Amino acid sequence: MLELRNVSTVYGTIPMLMDVTINVGKGEAVCLLGANGAGKTTVLKTIISMVSPVSGEVHFNGRRIDTLPSHKVIESGIAIVPEREGLFPRMTVADNLLMGAYYEADKKKIKARLAEVLAIFPRLGERYHRKAGTLSGGERKMLGIGRALLADPQVMLMDEPSLGLAPALVNEVYEVIGRIKREKNLAILLVEQNAQKALAVVERGYVLQKGGIILKGSTAELQADKIVQESYLSAGA
Ligand SMILES: Nc1ncnc2c1ncn2[C@@H]1O[C@H](COP(=O)(O)OP(=O)(O)OP(=O)(O)O)[C@@H](O)[C@H]1O
Ligand SMILES: [Mg+2]
Repeated sequence: MLELRNVSTVYGTIPMLMDVTINVGKGEAVCLLGANGAGKTTVLKTIISMVSPVSGEVHFNGRRIDTLPSHKVIESGIAIVPEREGLFPRMTVADNLLMGAYYEADKKKIKARLAEVLAIFPRLGERYHRKAGTLSGGERKMLGIGRALLADPQVMLMDEPSLGLAPALVNEVYEVIGRIKREKNLAILLVEQNAQKALAVVERGYVLQKGGIILKGSTAELQADKIVQESYLSAGA
């Protein structure tokens, strides 16, 4: 359904991604593991057309999307939860959520989605009229995910949802990701450095190193792999 085909990108003249091929099937949860600076965020930016490949293509539902502007890609059914949530701090929780449904004209649909998201995140209901900038780190993360859900996407891209959160909150966020996966019929591309958490929730994954895919496989295959164990699953990694 979502496919990067031999994608290479550069920042200026510096090569960033090299010949990256990634597939995400309908309703499938896939992770992309990689260390700091490996190019994980660049992969997501390429999918939503914020970065253009110098070679290769991105396809979604049989249609080429790397030549489209970002808003068309988002409109076509891809939502992103960015690294730092990308919220509007001076706007309320309610308005931030509604921004996610920007491309939906049907008020009934928006209302139904809102109810669904508030059922998943009761905390956001309690904070509904607060400014997003006053929320805690964990609440902001939930708001970022909730906003993406309001777009009712076919694919949700998540950029390091565990980053900067205390362990208890990481568990909470991952419980939510697991729940979304079970309850919603959407595909997830999960970018993480926290391999332990990511591999517990996905079916398949890829490892990105210095801009190239060095490994791909099922969750069990990745967990059994020496590189993954040493670089991403060892204590303190
Ligand atoms: N707009 C840009 N212009 C130039 N260089 C950039 C730009 N964005 C990112 N980079 C560089 O590209 C490299 C890869 O960045 P990217 O953000 O994709 O990595 P990442 O795997 O997401 O890393 P992290 O784990 O730190 O989020 C980094 O060295 C970064 O400094
Ligand atoms: Mg990143």
